[in-house]
Amino acid sequence: MKTIILYYSLGGHTKDEAEKLAAQRDAEMYAIEEVKRRNILNAVIPGCFHARNRKASEIKALSVDLNAYDRIMIGAPIWGGFPSPAFNSMIELLPEEKEVELFFCSGGGDSSMSSEGTRRMVAARNCTLVEYRDIKTGK
Ligand SMILES: Cc1cc2nc3c(=O)[nH]c(=O)nc-3n(C[C@H](O)[C@H](O)[C@H](O)COP(=O)(O)O)c2cc1C
Repeated sequence: MKTIILYYSLGGHTKDEAEKLAAQRDAEMYAIEEVKRRNILNAVIPGCFHARNRKASEIKALSVDLNAYDRIMIGAPIWGGFPSPAFNSMIELLPEEKEVELFFCSGGGDSSMSSEGTRRMVAARNCTLVEYRDIKTGK
């Protein structure tokens, strides 16, 4: 099975997790970058607000073809209880009928506030969610 890990990370925690997963699963990794550089201030405002409204951010064009993979793993930090805006951008890129795994990094390790809606976003892409994981980074 060919697997790719797409991830967005502002502070490096999600990147660390993506690296661990890539080694475990023998998967390729791909870092998603936003067009506008993010800092902690604009992560809070408007980042959290956009996260809570499921707004996608503008990301740099992908240089991989996601159709070439059987399973797509997506990782992102949780902001204000919701996946950071780049997650919404990654979901928009999903080809249909893929197996999808999600992992979310957060200080508290709990994304239950938004998890149902997040699961529905994968289903709306006609993909199968095979795993949803919260990772507590404690920061
Ligand atoms: C703008 C912002 C909002 C955050 N909101 C939450 C939150 O609601 N719940 C939580 O547990 N952690 C929250 N955190 C902590 C991050 O989710 C956590 O540090 C995560 O590991 C960061 O991942 P990264 O280093 O890959 O960016 C927030 C961090 C930032 C910068």
